Amino acid sequence: MSAPIPSRVLNQHLIDPEICIRCNTCEETCPIDAITHDGNNYVVDPGICNHCMACVPPCPTGAIDNWLKVLSDQAYSMEEQFGWDVLPAARDIPEDGPEGETAAGVADENAPAGPPDELSALEGSPSTAAGAAIPPWSAAHPYVNMYTHKNPIVATVVGNYRVTGDDTESDIRHIVLDFGTASFPVLEGQSIAIFPPGTDSAGRPHHARQYSIASPRDGERPRYNNLSLTVKRVTADYDGKAAAGVCSNYLCDLKKNDTVKVIGPFGNTFLMPNHPDANIIMICTGTGSAPMRAMTERCRRMLKETAFTGRLMLFFGARTERELPYFGPLMNLPKDFIDINLALSREQGRPKRYVQDLIRERAADVLALLDSENTCIYVCGLKGMEDGVLQALESVASDAGRSWPDLHAQLKSQGRLHFETY
Ligand code: FAD
Ligand code: A2P
Repeated sequence: MSAPIPSRVLNQHLIDPEICIRCNTCEETCPIDAITHDGNNYVVDPGICNHCMACVPPCPTGAIDNWLKVLSDQAYSMEEQFGWDVLPAARDIPEDGPEGETAAGVADENAPAGPPDELSALEGSPSTAAGAAIPPWSAAHPYVNMYTHKNPIVATVVGNYRVTGDDTESDIRHIVLDFGTASFPVLEGQSIAIFPPGTDSAGRPHHARQYSIASPRDGERPRYNNLSLTVKRVTADYDGKAAAGVCSNYLCDLKKNDTVKVIGPFGNTFLMPNHPDANIIMICTGTGSAPMRAMTERCRRMLKETAFTGRLMLFFGARTERELPYFGPLMNLPKDFIDINLALSREQGRPKRYVQDLIRERAADVLALLDSENTCIYVCGLKGMEDGVLQALESVASDAGRSWPDLHAQLKSQGRLHFETY
């Protein structure tokens, strides 16, 4: 008779149902389809997950970053996870496993290595992604997950203005939300999520959609308890087929004094440096300008108190000037405060330009900034631009004889290169 197979200790990957906003990012990111969901929860299949960590950095809330030590034959099944309202408590794992084996010491070469414990803490996590997994050293401490889907907060709409030309296809709105007397502290670069009312085609309540905050930490209007968003009305899917986006249309149609259900704030890495001589390179398309507006306005307000001496360089892509959100106010900013580079792709009579083309054209100035450890880079907007921007940064460095792999690794390890694309 063969001996029973000893159990080993598995660091089981779980998603916290209390914090998860059901945004589907993890399911979309998982390269081996280990994550799925039902009407209640997003769950990880312990039989498939190989702890590759691909899903961890993109999760807006950190709900994905939960690990529980269990004996492998007692791993929580998907059915159990679907039924949870909260994560289970840690179990007592005996020092000596079943059959006298040292549980932690049973080797199984087919078992996923599991994240080392320090990976659960964001700080210092290695990242295989293009951007850093840590914020810049001087970033202020963010509050996250103060309001979850179990305890959302209600905000009141105090403004909803179109910030693109009326005669264009791009309906992009500047929406201001007021939180009244409730505490909702945010930093530039963070996001919130909003629940559109109603249910999806399966009769389940719509999941929350995420939006970057477009105003600085002290409010859209200084010292008011409010913040702004930059929301594009989605009228077509990614293939260009007509589709009315549920949440973006709901938001773009909101009137003054309407209320919305909000959760968040989210994000603890895409945060601006907080030291006065930091330089910021901002690269964005369309609504990716929201966090850039927040950071720029923060610097502009600090400038008034002479607390900002860094350089700002902006690469902003849009179809035309009239489809570029905040075009007017942006052009009014002093030239010695911000170096603005507009990449217009469909302006009549002008060559098609993407942000990455302009980064190459301004290589010498970009390189001078990259060479300074005071410089942080932020990229936000269309997912499709991520590769192009990385390639442009690579040519800026390698054309000047620098090693891009070394510079890239340094930017990531120092929390100086950040992506938020969707
Ligand atoms: P859905 O009803 O979810 O989708 C309708 C159809 O449109 C689907 O076929 C879908 O595949 C497609 N679709 C979904 N999103 C887009 C899109 N962005 N462009 C084109 N087609 C799409 N949006 C903003 O407007 N402003 C922001 O500042 C912003 N910040 C974001 C920050 C993060 C971190 C993330 C992850 C997303 C952000 N988004 C932002 C996108 C936003 O969360 C929604 O995905 C977007 O508003 C579409 O939601 P919807 O409910 O209107 O569309
Ligand atoms: P394009 O005219 O080719 O669509 P949108 O208005 O769809 O949000 O796009 C904002 C801007 O980003 C547009 O100028 C668009 O150009 C441009 N864009 C599209 N794809 C990319 C890409 N891969 N890299 C950089 N910019 C892009």
